[in-house]
Amino acid sequence: MGKKAQFGSKIGLIAATVGSAVGLGNVWRFPAEAQANGGAAFLIIYVLCVFILGVPVMVSEFAIGRAGRSDAVGSFKNIGAPKQWWIVGGLAIFASYMILCFYMVVAGWTIEYLWNSITGSLYDIPAEVPAESAFVAKMKELISSSINPLIATYVVVIINIGVLMGGVQKGIERLSNILMPILFLVLIVMCCVSLSLDKAAAGVEYFLNPDFSKLSPAVALNALGQAFFSLSLGMGILITYSSYFPKSTKLTKTAITVSLLDLLVAIMMGLIIFPAITTFGLQDAGLEGTTLVFVTLPEVFRMMPLTGLWSTLFFLLLTVAAVTSTISIAEVTVAFVSDRFKIKRYKACLITMLPLFVFSTVCSMSLNGNYGLDIAGMPVFDFLDSVATNILLPIVSIGLCVYLGWFAPKSILPDEISNRDTVSRHPYTLIRFVIRYIAPTLIALVLASYFLHG
Ligand code: PHE
Repeated sequence: MGKKAQFGSKIGLIAATVGSAVGLGNVWRFPAEAQANGGAAFLIIYVLCVFILGVPVMVSEFAIGRAGRSDAVGSFKNIGAPKQWWIVGGLAIFASYMILCFYMVVAGWTIEYLWNSITGSLYDIPAEVPAESAFVAKMKELISSSINPLIATYVVVIINIGVLMGGVQKGIERLSNILMPILFLVLIVMCCVSLSLDKAAAGVEYFLNPDFSKLSPAVALNALGQAFFSLSLGMGILITYSSYFPKSTKLTKTAITVSLLDLLVAIMMGLIIFPAITTFGLQDAGLEGTTLVFVTLPEVFRMMPLTGLWSTLFFLLLTVAAVTSTISIAEVTVAFVSDRFKIKRYKACLITMLPLFVFSTVCSMSLNGNYGLDIAGMPVFDFLDSVATNILLPIVSIGLCVYLGWFAPKSILPDEISNRDTVSRHPYTLIRFVIRYIAPTLIALVLASYFLHG
């Protein structure tokens, strides 16, 4: 095997990691959750979860990956973890592959909407049908008609194959260096447009008006789950990416930068969405997930001048966010297959990606309802989502904290945090305290509350 691949620059490595973190979680989960759960009050809890818990767990994943210099399982092995701990890495890979199967499908929808915005056919709706039902019908057609969503999903799989075959520097890093600046530029433009709309202030108020009475332990645990999902923790992604970090990368600083940017994008998405929605009086329309972005926002764009432009920019944003996330998820398995079986990257790519043509087809078709593709009473798509994000992600995160906090060789965390003493060890004690006691306890509560309340 050749020399271990590395990111070529600090910016590139941050762009790639932010590319993974910024995804649909920021666009459609965060704004709706914050709005429904107390606005700025929720935001405060969320920020605490990101910085007090998310950052230390992120640093831990970084430490394992950079010290182990391998994939999610190989890194545990290389730092001398006994076999039972490799299972944590193995579960992470398993979870990430499950997520990959349905995330590819969602990324496909974003491409369909982008394409239909560019051609204008998204807005080609009969005048006599109310806009909402017209867009609901469009969404049904674009998401569960048999062939178009499949083609779009395959396009995403093919893009992934192309980028991943290019390798770490020439594939992942180069793509992130191009797409992340575009993402931020579009975000800024759309934020300015939205904030200059008539009822922008009312929209911001609707989004962020603090309502502390909405806070409850369940809401706080929700915020924690959302923070972990949004930062791409617990899936081996950060272990894999950090194995490509140079020795000089400052892990704590990188974790803080990535978390800040991820948070910024989530807040900016809220500032784009809600002013537009209040200006056009759509507060009572569906504000969650798919309905928000595929029905309510198209209604908004339809009422704005330059419909096609705003719609194209928004769905470009969504596509970039989704595709860069799929690449990071896929890289977990590609790295594992290539390290574990000592085979060339392109072969590992094909072994990882080709089965996705089948799995993502099953996920996509399971949403149609006519094919009986259900597991445990829900479509395969939803089943994978809930098992991976609600169950496996917290289990892996707990495993990681417990291993690194209690069982790993004592030198790993301080050595990695301090780059063997060229930067301060200062955050070490705090991080160790969090990953020993606080993080595992709170994440276990998230898991328990999922089993208790669903
Ligand atoms: N962090 C991404 C988001 O916010 C989602 C994601 C989950 C990406 C898991 C990679 C792995 O949408």
